[in-house]
Amino acid sequence: MGALDGATAVRCRAASALDRTYMVELAGRTFVDLGDYRSIIEHWLDAPRVRGLLAVEGGVTQGFALVARHRGVGFFRSVRAELVAIALEPDARGRGIGAQLLRAAEREAVDFGAGEMWLHTADENRVARAFFAAAGYRPKLGRQTSYPNGQSAIELRRELP
Ligand SMILES: CC(C)(COP(=O)(O)OP(=O)(O)OC[C@H]1O[C@@H](n2cnc3c(N)ncnc32)[C@H](O)[C@@H]1OP(=O)(O)O)[C@@H](O)C(=O)NCCC(=O)NCCS
Repeated sequence: MGALDGATAVRCRAASALDRTYMVELAGRTFVDLGDYRSIIEHWLDAPRVRGLLAVEGGVTQGFALVARHRGVGFFRSVRAELVAIALEPDARGRGIGAQLLRAAEREAVDFGAGEMWLHTADENRVARAFFAAAGYRPKLGRQTSYPNGQSAIELRRELP
C-alpha cells in the first residue's frame, strides 16, 4: 500500500447538512456487522460538538470521518477529541485516502483545542488496527467495551501535536 498513484488529488472538506444522508448511508453499510450504525451516526450528527469531514477525489466523495469534542472533568478540564467514525468506500481503500482523512480529522481536533484523540475499533478489525497503529495510535490498557452486536472493542489514543 503506498501513496496515491499520482493521478487524482484528494481533498478533505468540512461536511455540511447536505452530506448527512451520505455519511449515514456509508456508515450503515460499512459497520452493518457491528450494529445499527445508521441510527448511531444520526444521533452523533445531532450533537452540536461533532464535526464531519469528507474525502473527495476528483469530484467523487470517497469517505467521511466524524470528530467529537469532549471537555474533560476535573481541575484542568482539558479538551479531548473522539474520532467517532472513519470509513471509505470499498473501492477507495488502500490508496492513502484514509490516512489523509485521519490527518484532516486530527487538524480539526487541534483546531478546537484537543490535546489528544481517542477512538474505538473492533478488536477483530485487523485492517483498522494496522491503519491506526501506522498513524501512531496505541491501545489504552484496561478499557474494554463492546459494540451493540457484541464484538469487543478496543480503545486507542494518540497525543496530538
Ligand atoms: C480503515 C480505513 C479507513 C483505512 O483507510 P485506507 O485509505 O484504506 O488506508 P490507507 O491507504 O490510508 O493506509 C494507511 C496505512 O494503514 C495501513 N493499512 C491500510 N490498509 C491496510 C490493510 N488492508 N492491511 C494492513 N495495513 C493496512 C498501512 O500501514 C497503510 O500505510 P501504507 O500505505 O504506507 O502501507 C478503511 O480501510 C476503511 O474505511 N475501512 C472500513 C471502515 C473501518 O474499519 N473504519 C475504522 C474503524 S472506525
